[in-house]
Amino acid sequence: MLLSLTLLLIATLQGAASLGGAMQGMEEAIDIQREQLSRMSEFLGPVGDPEAPKKDPQAPTVTFSNPAAEKFFVDGTRIPEVKFDAGPSWSGLMPISGDPNETRKLFFWFWPTNNASNTKDLMFWTNGGPGCSSLEGFLQENGPISWSWGQAEPTLNPWSWTNLSHVLWVEQPVGTGFSQGTPNITNDDQLAAELTGFLEQFLEVFSELKGNNFYLTGESYAGFYVPYIANWIYEHPGLDLTLKGIWIADPSLSYGVIQQEIPALRFAQANKNLFPFNSSFWSTLQGISDSCGYTDYLDKFVTYPPAGQLPLPIATNGTFSVIPSCRIHSPIQRAINVLNPAFNVYRVSDTWPNLWSVWVSPVQLRSLSISIGPTCKMPFTRLIYHGALAPTGHVLPNVIEKSVRTVIVHGLADFILVAEGTRIAIQNMTWGGAQGFQTPIESENFLVENMGIYGNMHTERKLTYVEFYFSGHMTPQFVPWASFQTVSYLLGHQDSPSSG
Ligand SMILES: *[C@@H]1O[C@H](CO)[C@@H](O)[C@H](O)[C@H]1NC(C)=O
Ligand SMILES: *[C@@H]1O[C@H](CO)[C@@H](O)[C@H](O)[C@H]1NC(C)=O
Ligand SMILES: *[C@@H]1O[C@H](CO)[C@@H](O)[C@H](O)[C@H]1NC(C)=O
Ligand SMILES: *[C@@H]1O[C@H](CO)[C@@H](O)[C@H](O)[C@H]1NC(C)=O
Ligand SMILES: *[C@@H]1O[C@H](CO)[C@@H](O)[C@H](O)[C@H]1NC(C)=O
Ligand SMILES: *[C@@H]1O[C@H](CO)[C@@H](O)[C@H](O)[C@H]1NC(C)=O
Ligand SMILES: *[C@@H]1O[C@H](CO)[C@@H](O)[C@H](O)[C@H]1NC(C)=O
Repeated sequence: MLLSLTLLLIATLQGAASLGGAMQGMEEAIDIQREQLSRMSEFLGPVGDPEAPKKDPQAPTVTFSNPAAEKFFVDGTRIPEVKFDAGPSWSGLMPISGDPNETRKLFFWFWPTNNASNTKDLMFWTNGGPGCSSLEGFLQENGPISWSWGQAEPTLNPWSWTNLSHVLWVEQPVGTGFSQGTPNITNDDQLAAELTGFLEQFLEVFSELKGNNFYLTGESYAGFYVPYIANWIYEHPGLDLTLKGIWIADPSLSYGVIQQEIPALRFAQANKNLFPFNSSFWSTLQGISDSCGYTDYLDKFVTYPPAGQLPLPIATNGTFSVIPSCRIHSPIQRAINVLNPAFNVYRVSDTWPNLWSVWVSPVQLRSLSISIGPTCKMPFTRLIYHGALAPTGHVLPNVIEKSVRTVIVHGLADFILVAEGTRIAIQNMTWGGAQGFQTPIESENFLVENMGIYGNMHTERKLTYVEFYFSGHMTPQFVPWASFQTVSYLLGHQDSPSSG
């Protein structure tokens, strides 16, 4: 930024005499950059400014009478590296059962809402993986303290979800992050039972939260976790919370062939400036796409309403996985990694150099070069490619029917899971008495306040689907303004996710 400004200034001085009209454009560009910078400092607020007036600490919007809550209390003025008062919160390890000898304990961080009107709501967040730490979400996506890619130090997050609700970040299942105990589960129903056990213990200590409205949210592999947990809670009444809805971002919902292979070539073609392949490679890819049944799949089968159940393409040869000669997503990723060493499959617009990060870095998403703790490790054996287990089969439909609102969002710059694949999964799902959306997902109808058109959306039979411009996989990190609005809609604060 500084360098380019300097170069522009030098160019302006050198060329002022001879270039005349052309320079006017450059000067204007610099002015526009200044406007952009001032808009950005409005986002970031006075945090870190030593001249800023000190505010009196805000009284917590909830307090807990059970003495057992005290040992979890975190003083927001004493969080290492955080130079502002982050407010009160509660964190620690909670067993997943009432057995006094229970060794399995989940690590949580509970933050009360900063808005006294929102204390009847509780939101749960989990990252995916499986096995990714939910502190990734807390620190880099939707928490009150933001220490994201390229940030030298933590700042207050103006789009923290704690503005909307109490929020509970949980590292689950057993085996994930700072959680303790030996993992022994083998499917997502057992995971849901563990989590429900944790919530029961949590409510014994933080009993003022009993009876609250409850919302389950998460991203990526939480496309499995969250519907399974919600389904479990609906099917096993007894938890003293009123589950009202779920929100899943860039979710795993189906097989790799659906969410990666079929839409991969169209994605690369639509983002050609970021996938500048040579023509011989483009024709190799086209050949794979044609012979494996990808090329016309979306136009032919993903219709509104769908004509019937969607077939698996010839690429799977009657199974749920793709034969080696029909792999197209990996060859594209491998080739672009060579041309763009900073290529990030989680946000394809990243270019050289890659950003520094204290926590999960853009490229080494699963590496061990992390200063705080392990970020992702496989906590249990999963069988996600088994057709019966995909949440779109019966679990997610049941959750949509029993919930007030279900929101699925997807970033249009995500290549680890592709938005058009999520459209396939939705169109092949039957809920509320019909298969798929009956009318098309509109274009350009999702608006963000003060910004304008920010994507596409559609709602039918209590399911809302929103696609975000600019966003990679971690939507609350990349377009927090857009994610925030969809969560506000989930909670019933607005009638539509769109501001317009
Ligand atoms: C817990 O473990 C101790 C020591 O092994 C044992 O004596 C006790 O019966 C156990 N309690 C329960 C509830 O299982
Ligand atoms: C607090 O939340 C309510 C809705 O629950 C909203 O109307 C109000 O504007 C919020 N206040 C602030 C300061 O954001
Ligand atoms: C969240 O709350 C803080 C503190 O009241 C406020 O400054 C900020 O603008 C709010 N953010 C949004 C997106 O409403
Ligand atoms: C896991 O182990 C615990 C005891 O440590 C046991 O109670 C539980 O049933 C086991 N769960 C599964 C899914 O095997
Ligand atoms: C659509 O759903 C049906 C029924 O569950 C299933 O047999 C079929 O494989 C699914 N198709 C896709 C593309 O997922
Ligand atoms: C497709 O499946 C058939 C039957 O299982 C098998 O004989 C054949 O080798 C498979 N073809 C490929 C290309 O994997
Ligand atoms: C064209 O692109 C492919 C894939 O990136 C690469 O393997 C091949 O070497 C390229 N050809 C030339 C002439 O650069």
